This record gives sequence, C-alpha cells and structure tokens, in this order.
Amino acid sequence: MFESLRAVPADPILNLSVLYRQDTNPNKVDLGVGVYKDEAGHTAIMEAVSRAQEQILVEEDTKSYVGMAGSKRFCDLLSQITLGANHQVLTDQRVAIAQTPGGTGALRVLADFINVAKPNATVWLGDPTWANHFPIMQSAGLEVKQFPYYNRATKTLDFDGMLATLQTQTKAGDVILLHGCCHNPSGADLSLEQWQTVAELIQAKGLVPYVDIAYQGLGEGMDEDAAGLRLMADSVPEMVIASSCSKNFGVYRERTGTAIIISSNADQAKIAQSQMNSVIRANYSMPSQMNSVIRANYSMPPSHGALAVETILADPKLKQMWRDELKTMRKRIKDLRSQLVDAIKAEGVEQDFSFIERQKGMFSFLGISAEQVDQLVNEHSVYLVGSSRINIAGLNQRNIAYVAKAIAAVL
Ligand code: LMR
Repeated sequence: MFESLRAVPADPILNLSVLYRQDTNPNKVDLGVGVYKDEAGHTAIMEAVSRAQEQILVEEDTKSYVGMAGSKRFCDLLSQITLGANHQVLTDQRVAIAQTPGGTGALRVLADFINVAKPNATVWLGDPTWANHFPIMQSAGLEVKQFPYYNRATKTLDFDGMLATLQTQTKAGDVILLHGCCHNPSGADLSLEQWQTVAELIQAKGLVPYVDIAYQGLGEGMDEDAAGLRLMADSVPEMVIASSCSKNFGVYRERTGTAIIISSNADQAKIAQSQMNSVIRANYSMPSQMNSVIRANYSMPPSHGALAVETILADPKLKQMWRDELKTMRKRIKDLRSQLVDAIKAEGVEQDFSFIERQKGMFSFLGISAEQVDQLVNEHSVYLVGSSRINIAGLNQRNIAYVAKAIAAVL
C-alpha cells in the first residue's frame, strides 16, 4: 500500500530549524521559524507562565479529560482579551468559543465548521499569507482562491488590488481570511480606516470574515492589535476568529488557542456552539460522519497551556507581570527593526530598507530574490524562509552587524 506514496517537499518554514541545527558555522543565525527569542537567542519561558505552572503543580488535582470545547474559564477570559471585555457581541451572547490545540487547531476547527455550514465554500487568502493556511483550508474541503495583499515592488500593502478583487470576484457566502495583526509573512497591516472599508465591503457583499490572530500584543499592544477585528465584529452579522496563545504567552509546544464564532443572534450562537462542539465531539453512533473529523483527530484539547494562560489572566498580579513581559518583547522587536535598518545602511547599502521599520510584529520580507536567499543560507549561514521572510526576533546585539554585512554582500 505504501509503495504508491511519493515524498512531499520539506515544510518551507519548519525545515529551517533542522537545517540550522545541522550547520556547524559558529556565526550561524536563525531567522526562520516564528518563535520569539530573547537577547541570548533563547525562547525562554515567560516568568508569569513559570509562576502559573508552579501554582498549577500545587493546585491541579486531576488529569481527567477537560470538556470537549476545553475550559469554560479559559474560553471566557480569552473571548475577553480577543474581543474586549465589554464588546457588544459578548453582551448579546452572540459568541460561541472553544479551546483548541493552538491557533492551527482553531483554524482547522473553523474550516471544518465552515464546510459543515456551506460545503466546499470558497475561502479567499491574501497573497501572500502563512503557508500553512492552504493545506488547512484545503484538507477541510474548502476551495481556496487568492486576493492581492502585498506589493513586493513598493513593499507596502496592495490595498487597491485587494479591494478590487474582493469587490469584483467574490460572491455572497465566500469567506475572506484576514490577519488580525502583525501580518505573517509581510509585517504589513491594515490601518483602522482600511479595516472599516473592508468591513463595509464584506457586509455589502454578504461575505464572511475569518480573522487569524496569532501575534496579538506583539505589534502595538493587546487592545491596539485587536482593534481591527473588534471593529469588524461591530459591523458584520457573522464572523469567525482563530486566536493563538503560542506567541503572546510563549506556550508554543503546549498548543493553546481558541476558535471563536460570532453569529447573528444568541439563538444562532447556541446552534453554532453545538455545531462546533460536534465538529470536535464524536458522534459516537456514526463515527465516519464528517462532523466527527476533529473528534477522530484529537478528541479534545490538551489542558496544560490553557490552564497556565487562564491562571495568569484570572490573577491580577500575574496578569500585570505577563503584560509587562509582553511589552518588553514588543519593544525589543521594534528596536531591532530600527537597528537592522541602521546596520544595513552602515554597510553602505543604498537600497532603501526603511520599510522594515514601518512594518509590524515578528516578520518582514527582505525583498530579495530566491537566489539571494540561497546565498544568505548557504554562504553566510543566515537562515530565512525562501520568500525572504525574516523573523526579526532572531536578531540580537551579537548577530545584527553580521546579518547586515551578509545582506549587503548578497545584494
Ligand atoms: C511561522 O510562521 O513561522 C510560525 O507560525 C510557525 C509555523 O508553524 O509555521
């Protein structure tokens, strides 16, 4: 049976860590996978998370299953930090929410949910977007199309192109995937005015917004980074949101996220919750039914990461500690953006890289060719994604001049 299988290409992002580990060059730099690193190049456990874990170790008294949709307290707290504590959709009880295995788990649950509501629906992804959006949507049975998002020549958002495509090529019931903040891979975000324009278009055309927010708090702040999606939630009857705690709580390997569904009214929200649960929960009598796909995969979410996150969010002191740590991370990324631009300039490079300073979050494209990326990897041991995406947080005071010199050398 297995003889018919052909090898698939290595994952364009995750494989970089493998190559980096194998490289013996002492100057090697890892700007690949999107994990936050501190000045020492280490992805340390946040202090607030460590404290929460100590507390959990003492207080947790069972390892029995969590609910199918996870912890209610976690879901409530997360809906508040995503939507804002007093958002009208929460007050109106229009929200269904489930704890998921990371942001990726949320994306898949929501994709399955959409496919139950509207089989083979079309989901529009930006060009470019996170590479994993394609297989997630396609394996759920959705049809994928793309709208222009980033202009690689001007290194800015292609807002006119985006609007024109959404205006002329979408049909009612199509799903539009938007990044909540810190666009991965380009770092180019919609302004609030642009969110407003897109929200109006979405409403006028009967489209459904699907917001992926994986870097909340790493751009301008927890509330600032969610302002666009909150505005969207104000304006449309239906919407889905996949959020991740991997980056802003640094709990990557604990797989912690939430799938949020906003329905047009409280009754619909209850149905959505039951549908989402049934996407997650087994239909024991008919295990082959499509609704049980997720139950057949993971049954229910892992608990530990979500328990750490809810412990932090429910404790004012730990919450403040986490907010302060997140602020330090955010500031460090911003500083590194400016420092990289300066360091490249200091190498005598005339090409303008100042766009890096204006972009947000962990990523930017360098805007160089695939050959130049290969040179950076093979000749300088600077690891970055083939699209020329760099993880800004992989820079530090020891490697930034080296990286700038390497970039200058390949231009
Ligand atoms: C990234 O884009 O590097 C991260 O989201 C990690 C991943 O799973 O690709």
